[in-house]
Amino acid sequence: MESKTPAQSRTTMTDMVLPSETNALQNLFGGELLARMDRAASIAAGRHSRRITVTASVNHVAFNLAIPLGSVVTVEAAVSRAYNTSMEVYIDVWIEDRYNGKKTKANEAIYTFVAVDETGKPTEVPELRPETELEQIRYEGALRRKQLSLVLAGKMKPDDATELKALFTKN
Ligand SMILES: CC(C)(COP(=O)(O)OP(=O)(O)OC[C@H]1O[C@@H](n2cnc3c(N)ncnc32)[C@H](O)[C@@H]1OP(=O)(O)O)[C@@H](O)C(=O)NCCC(=O)NCCS
Repeated sequence: MESKTPAQSRTTMTDMVLPSETNALQNLFGGELLARMDRAASIAAGRHSRRITVTASVNHVAFNLAIPLGSVVTVEAAVSRAYNTSMEVYIDVWIEDRYNGKKTKANEAIYTFVAVDETGKPTEVPELRPETELEQIRYEGALRRKQLSLVLAGKMKPDDATELKALFTKN
């Protein structure tokens, strides 16, 4: 199976924040942002694998900036590493200044998707080939994040999480 670059899965979705999508402070409701990120990430994982993909886990979400009513929000997702049947997808969220068009990073998240066949059975995906410096950094950190996610899900013994443990081990 031929490897692919993050550019080949990059998915950009821009939409605005409507009143029905806000909380009592008139900022975008967290669950609405999670759904938008899930949709963009699902398309990115589908572009990488050309398979049906399902969300296996949400590994990380940081709601750093509130997103006010009326904001123009761009969600950008791309596969940051691929394994046997699973893919890590990195999502960046930007808000755009209405008057000068300047984009500010508001949030980011990391999801894991699994490619499946028509019966829901996990199926192989192409490898990921990072190109830029940022893509390389995200690729290198991904294995630790996968191990952490599997340990938390009770699917990996902490002792087997070699790369994750190395983070906490002094030389
Ligand atoms: C995701 C799913 C296909 C995994 O099935 P499974 O029987 O655990 O399959 P496996 O153990 O073979 O794992 C498949 C891959 O997922 C990875 N995986 C499973 N759980 C994971 C987790 N919590 N975090 C990170 N990766 C995970 C495994 O490491 C494996 O990756 P690899 O093949 O690239 O090494 C299955 O649990 C499922 O269908 N879940 C429901 C998905 C869904 O409906 N999502 C929407 C939620 S509303």
